[in-house]
Amino acid sequence: MLIRQKPSWEIKESEATPEGVYRNRRQILQDLGLGGLAASGAPAFWFSPSSKSKSAGGPLAEVATDPSLKLYPFPRNKAYGFKRPVTPEKIVATYNNFYEFGSQKDIWQAAQALKIRPWTIAIDGLVEKPQIIGIDDLLKIMPKEERLYRHRCVEAWSIAVPWSGFALKALVAFAKPLASAKFLAMRGFEDPAMAPGQNQSWYPWPYVEGLTMAEATNDLAFMVTGMYGKPLPPQNGAPLRLAVPWKYGFKSAKSLVRFTFTDKMPETFWSRVDGSEYGFWANVNPEVPHPRWSQASERELGAGKRIPTKLYNGYGAEVASLYANMPGATPPYNRKLFM
Ligand code: MTE
Repeated sequence: MLIRQKPSWEIKESEATPEGVYRNRRQILQDLGLGGLAASGAPAFWFSPSSKSKSAGGPLAEVATDPSLKLYPFPRNKAYGFKRPVTPEKIVATYNNFYEFGSQKDIWQAAQALKIRPWTIAIDGLVEKPQIIGIDDLLKIMPKEERLYRHRCVEAWSIAVPWSGFALKALVAFAKPLASAKFLAMRGFEDPAMAPGQNQSWYPWPYVEGLTMAEATNDLAFMVTGMYGKPLPPQNGAPLRLAVPWKYGFKSAKSLVRFTFTDKMPETFWSRVDGSEYGFWANVNPEVPHPRWSQASERELGAGKRIPTKLYNGYGAEVASLYANMPGATPPYNRKLFM
């Protein structure tokens, strides 16, 4: 039986102030030895691939030696953008949720232990032919692009990130699912020797997530392999993570190793921890509060302000039709559907 452990994202509203963001940011920069940047406003790109920073041990050290580095940057797909500043890379790379490496936001150092090569991805279940493919072979054949996406965490903070990767629907096409497939289940790596958080037995490891086939083949669903024009650092879910920006961030599962097509709704990591608070659908909805805090607004990390949260995180034009015929999918919204 699972012992209920509160995720660290269960913050008090009093901790979610703009001042808190500034304090955090200054602390982060000081930890990196970049304290001077806190006052000046740091550049969005603070790492160049030519800098051999692995020995320096910074949050992008692994990126400098990533075997796929030469493939970047991917061409920008201008169909995906946002009207807000790009969040500084140093914040996105050092303020993370990755419970495999700890339940605090400062896990980037611990996450450097994630060994990202060799890395194989299994594709199985209701497919024409199960297969296993290495990440570098997959990268060779997928249609690579960069997209600017907003990311809204259920903890009521948000970032705006240039992700590199490929459309999930391209991976689905490559997998050749059978007509009987209704859902796509995704599974993260499992290696407690490498990831200390996976020794915490009250969590139902490995991290698993799932989408309906309609969600997985929606244009917005994106497989991320890089950010800010470079390969993903381990702490952001290298070498392959999901980005479904109309859903709360916990749906965007990191460091994936298996894609299983199925006719049953898959179990998800956080709904196994507490299904009454973190359900399967998890569509961003400012009108449905989390049981312990409001979802009406969000902290824009790096900007020091709160902004209103939008239904589907502002991606309604792209995804609202997915939920049009679902019972309860009209205001005031059925909690089971949207949490
Ligand atoms: N994936 C795995 N495997 N483990 C996690 O703990 N946390 C989720 C999601 N994917 C998580 C995960 C949550 S709650 C969020 S908000 C995002 O990752 C955070 O992504 P970021 O650290 O790149 O901002």
